[in-house]
Amino acid sequence: MTGNPAGHATLTRAPDGSYVVEADHRTRYAVTVVDGLLDRTFPPPDGGSLGDPLGRVPGGSVRRLVVVDRDVMRPYGRKIREFLDRHGIEYRLVKLPGGERSKSLKLVMRLCREFDDFGVPRRGEPVIVIGGGAILDMARMTSGIYRRGVPVIAWPVSLVGQIDAGLGVKTAIDAGGYKNRLGTYSPLERAVIDRRFLATLNDRRLSDGLAEILKVGVAVDETLFGSLRAHGRKVLHERFQGRTETGDRAASQILDAAIRGMLGELAPNLYEDDMARPVYLGHTWSPAVEMEALRRSRRWLPWERRPALLHGEAVALDMILSAGIALDRGAMDKAEYELVAETTDSLGLPLWDSLLDDADLLAAGLRDSTRHRGGRQLAPLPRGIGAVVFADDITASEVAHSVKRQRALGGRSVG
Ligand SMILES: NC(=O)c1ccc[n+]([C@@H]2O[C@H](COP(=O)([O-])OP(=O)(O)OC[C@H]3O[C@@H](n4cnc5c(N)ncnc54)[C@H](O)[C@@H]3O)[C@@H](O)[C@H]2O)c1
Repeated sequence: MTGNPAGHATLTRAPDGSYVVEADHRTRYAVTVVDGLLDRTFPPPDGGSLGDPLGRVPGGSVRRLVVVDRDVMRPYGRKIREFLDRHGIEYRLVKLPGGERSKSLKLVMRLCREFDDFGVPRRGEPVIVIGGGAILDMARMTSGIYRRGVPVIAWPVSLVGQIDAGLGVKTAIDAGGYKNRLGTYSPLERAVIDRRFLATLNDRRLSDGLAEILKVGVAVDETLFGSLRAHGRKVLHERFQGRTETGDRAASQILDAAIRGMLGELAPNLYEDDMARPVYLGHTWSPAVEMEALRRSRRWLPWERRPALLHGEAVALDMILSAGIALDRGAMDKAEYELVAETTDSLGLPLWDSLLDDADLLAAGLRDSTRHRGGRQLAPLPRGIGAVVFADDITASEVAHSVKRQRALGGRSVG
């Protein structure tokens, strides 16, 4: 499952006679950025190389189960089939509905049946998953528990997938009314990232992904924040496709900095041994807010017209809330706070949602994040721009004060 499971292992005997097993398990995977993967002119993937999007090895099997987000099949289905045919893959495509509701145990079980039916072996035939963050989370979790883990290659095709969900080792489904309640740490074999897929992503989804990039900028990379400020709107308008020279350069730089920044944060702490994570910025209250919004959403509307908040939108709201507390604590000044709010707004993200008026919801969200972080709040608050401080003592009245300021920003809200 991991690139190289070999590692150091010892068996010792403790003074009380207990056997003590200690073993390292090495994690190694590649994230490769490509351009125009599905184009006929794309250089033939080099079987055996780390970046081979099909995970082939010389003399190895070319059977692949390919799990594809149904909405992604519409624009890319024909090209995906042609690509697989062109490279001699014996494949079966499994089309599944995308979106948050796909992160369910029901879909995990359905996918397990598909794995059985195809006969996915423990090793040598990586499952290829093509989709947004939700399908990646669900299909990677299934692969992580199926036969205790079969290899997976991710082709994330949404912006959130390309700069976040497709990069780390975490997988999850929602359960019991909670977001990401069941999940695994299951390393990928490799991830292949092609911004050409973003051409068909809806505006709201692009903004949503930009929220996670903005989070990286505010939390750890002031230069990235500056790029978003200068070019974020253009890149959004051009859908990362580079319709102008400036837009092309900016899209490539922003995507690269976001991937580098995220991997730089993930790599030394892949299994979250250290719960003080700067990239938790925007993720303290947002899981509760996002799930509540989903509960209240009107299911009969197409998703783009639903008032439910998307993941990144909830992250943006949480980031402004956190920035407000940082401002009150003197960790950032008013100009920096306003800069973060303005940039958030310029990327088409909400600054306000009426769910923030629900103090009980926010308190429950903070409580749940505290449980998730081993009993400490460890809430990242921006320290200026490009750094964070961790707070462990945020009070309800501080939250209320920040919410009040956020309401006064008078920004766009969703729905
Ligand atoms: N595991 C992690 O580390 C991690 C990190 C961040 C986010 N996530 C999870 O990712 C999920 C959000 O992912 P998302 O924003 O990609 O949403 P999503 O996967 O729900 O996809 C949203 C919609 O966009 C469609 N879509 C995706 N890419 C497309 C494309 N290129 N063209 C046309 N349509 C496309 C999908 O079919 C779907 O209908 C959340 O569940 C979040 O919890 C996980």
